Amino acid sequence: MEILADAMVDTVELLLTVQAYNTHTLSEHELPPPIRRHFWNKKLRGVPKPLGVKVEDVCAIYGHSSEDVNRAVQSLPFVDVADFGSLSLTVLDVGLEWYKGKVDDERIVKNPAVAYCISPEKYERALKEVLPLHAERLWIDSMIEELRRELEEEAEEMLKLCTIVAPDEVMLSLEDIVLTDEQKENISKIVVALEHREYLSEVGLYDVGKVLFVGPPGTGKTSTARALSKHLKLPLLEVKLSMVTNQYLGETSKNIDRVFELAKRLSPCILFIDEFDFVAKTRTSDEHAAIKRAVNTLLKAIDEISLVRHGVLLISATNHPQLLDVAAWRRFDDVVWFPLPNEEMRREILKVVCKKIDRNLDFDELASLTEGFSGSDIRTAVKEAVLSALMEGRKELTQEDLLEAVKEFKKRLKMKKEE
Ligand SMILES: Nc1ncnc2c1ncn2[C@@H]1O[C@H](COP(=O)(O)OP(=O)(O)O)[C@@H](O)[C@H]1O
Ligand SMILES: [Mg+2]
Repeated sequence: MEILADAMVDTVELLLTVQAYNTHTLSEHELPPPIRRHFWNKKLRGVPKPLGVKVEDVCAIYGHSSEDVNRAVQSLPFVDVADFGSLSLTVLDVGLEWYKGKVDDERIVKNPAVAYCISPEKYERALKEVLPLHAERLWIDSMIEELRRELEEEAEEMLKLCTIVAPDEVMLSLEDIVLTDEQKENISKIVVALEHREYLSEVGLYDVGKVLFVGPPGTGKTSTARALSKHLKLPLLEVKLSMVTNQYLGETSKNIDRVFELAKRLSPCILFIDEFDFVAKTRTSDEHAAIKRAVNTLLKAIDEISLVRHGVLLISATNHPQLLDVAAWRRFDDVVWFPLPNEEMRREILKVVCKKIDRNLDFDELASLTEGFSGSDIRTAVKEAVLSALMEGRKELTQEDLLEAVKEFKKRLKMKKEE
């Protein structure tokens, strides 16, 4: 009985959504992602209008059997079945009233198209809740396809330099990263600036949205950039500067332009430039002029790109702040420091890393024994402990396993230092 009730609600939701999409000036952005994905047309790079609904569409989107959907349709007096299984609402208002009686607000605000028919307030909320079209893998892929059509070889050159991450592919969320209060505040500031970028533009404050993450390796810089992508529902363009710096130095400046061009095409997005200090590394004097040109291109590109105008949030990261000169520092309106975690933070990181393992561990002891460990070191030590337990045929992780792994890791750290 419940399956039938679900199939009825889902059928009506789809019909309402499609009807709203067909008759109002709504875009793909206002469709819930599963519906958007189902009707997506690659060639159009969008969802065609008008849309029709068939029984098999309901089945594909919501995972019902056609038997259930057919029975659902028969139980709904205001749904009409035409030839070839085409469905429609005979009386829209009756359908809408029925639907409102069956679902709660939480479901309504996941569907901007239906919310649009109910109230402006719910519509506003739904627009904030729904995954934006530009954050979807299918949108990113269609942008890439268009890029390939338009630029051919050049597109390949661009795409080679970066990784493009869609927000819902990011596994880690901000809550999983242990941050200092100062880091939290800095990150909230980024979030607020992004939410209010139109206002900032109105009041003439364009210089926001360029952030530098600074700290030793393994302190969460990359993870935070990715988690921000998920949190802000913005795709992330990840670039390692070492990849951009071509062995043919003349190409390096060109590569930098390519990266920024790609970011603009992907916008709104986050451009994450890792290993930002790479260009600062001194080399032979022959290379010097070319490097200098590349650095200038990079600094100019950073000056020129804007969150307000292009919708690109720039995050750079470096493990070696001492390599950056004043000209580079000046480009960023915000610096977020990623220190090695103190004892309290190490305890929290241990808890996060062991979240799915066991609660019967003494994190206080481990936190005090891991002085000098980065978050990444802690993760590695836990992984080693889990593996050695598995090698003994155990899935139960003990405090001893962890202590042993920490001891081993410390030995390795010491060896590295002595190298
Ligand atoms: N503060 C932290 N809180 C939680 N996990 C952390 C933290 N710092 C590092 N890690 C973990 O260590 C790993 C490496 O971190 P990463 O973000 O790549 O560091 P970085 O980019 O600073 O070198 C990630 O798996 C991350 O989850
Ligand atoms: Mg990193």
